[in-house]
Amino acid sequence: MKLLLLGSGGREHALAWKIAQSPKIEKLYIAPGNAGTRNVGENVAIKADDFEAIREFVVKNDINMVVVGPEDPLVKGIYDFFKEDEALKNIPVIGPSRTGAVLEGSKEFAKEFMMRHNIPTAAYKSITADNLEEGLAFLETLEAPYVLKADGLCAGKGVLILPTLEEAKKELKEMLGGMFGGASATVVIEEFLSGIECSVFVLTDGKNYQILPEAKDYKRIGEGDKGLNTGGMGSISPVPFADKEWMQKVEDRIIRPTVEGLATEGIDYKGFIFFGLINVKGNPMVIEYNVRMGDPETESVMLRIKSDLVELFEGVANGNLNEKTLEIDERAAVCVMLVSGGYPEAYGKGYAITGLDEIKDSIVFHAGTAVKDGQVVTSGGRVIAVSSYGANKEEALAQSFANAQKICFEKKYFRSDIGFDL
Ligand code: AMP
Ligand code: GLY
Repeated sequence: MKLLLLGSGGREHALAWKIAQSPKIEKLYIAPGNAGTRNVGENVAIKADDFEAIREFVVKNDINMVVVGPEDPLVKGIYDFFKEDEALKNIPVIGPSRTGAVLEGSKEFAKEFMMRHNIPTAAYKSITADNLEEGLAFLETLEAPYVLKADGLCAGKGVLILPTLEEAKKELKEMLGGMFGGASATVVIEEFLSGIECSVFVLTDGKNYQILPEAKDYKRIGEGDKGLNTGGMGSISPVPFADKEWMQKVEDRIIRPTVEGLATEGIDYKGFIFFGLINVKGNPMVIEYNVRMGDPETESVMLRIKSDLVELFEGVANGNLNEKTLEIDERAAVCVMLVSGGYPEAYGKGYAITGLDEIKDSIVFHAGTAVKDGQVVTSGGRVIAVSSYGANKEEALAQSFANAQKICFEKKYFRSDIGFDL
């Protein structure tokens, strides 16, 4: 089959790497891709949310399936765009409908959905300029620290965690006043939950689901989980506390009610669901839903899937995911992200990357890279994910750290303590 994958990050390179291993694949295209994805497929210079250009490409090249990496095209309705188009309607899109993507596109919708289906999550109140007083009063009932979330998509920047009541009240007003533009016209105030986070992923055909390997990502820029939030500095899978018993709670209390809830509400959902969970005294609670895979979790998770991912996608498209098997590698997999100095604040681009060809015993996934005059250069904050297998996470991490040293570019930085807290 001919498959088109949308996106351009480390997540997409890892998905492309796995998809390309399927004997079912005759041709894999990635739009727009990066300097790494061209090694496993063919890059196409089309933006992941340029629906008209995607339509033209899909028709012209007889594409049989489209897999969506990032949330943006999903929230903008690429699934519905295909369904409503005479020439595209029979080509499966792996990703939810626009209505399903609201689980990620609106924090308020996600919280209301969880309430309707009794899914464990932090207590909250949804606030706009019209009920600001209610918001301020709700903050008074909570204990520090205070969690404020912009309702809409903010490229991972829309969550503020504030140490004092005064700051929380001030920031609430600023968010409602347009700190994140329209995305923070509604703010969700949440009770703070304390615990270790874990990302759980499923593939669903809308009725059946398969649970993929879980992972933990490391979001802060500094070692010891200090400093600013980033898109993610590394990941490990499996997560030690996510044992059989804990995962059973996740399935019973969170995964099944979510998939059933989507079905009973008539929400068309064929794709990945990413449950951002937190372990509160042995009980999983939902921090957030995403409607795609995580990045950099995918750069660990894909290593642990032994089955043919494309066959699982066919199960998603055809509604018989329950008949497919998902075999998981027992080994540990980890990823260490190499970033450009300055990230997540201002950083330079266009630095030459060397040493990539020397890496033998890790898998190098490109995130923010491009090709300039035949040379691979940096083109983003997160640049390269160095992923490795090991009998345990220590072994896998040692491999990734050693190889992280061999890849060079100006102002390279990475965290040497991924996995430290587990
Ligand atoms: P989100 O964008 O929803 O993933 O939130 C960003 C980060 O903020 C999460 O990964 C958590 O570390 C943290 N966070 C969000 N909500 C809560 C909460 N209710 N309690 C504690 N931490 C939270
Ligand atoms: N690693 C978190 C995310 O992809 O949102």
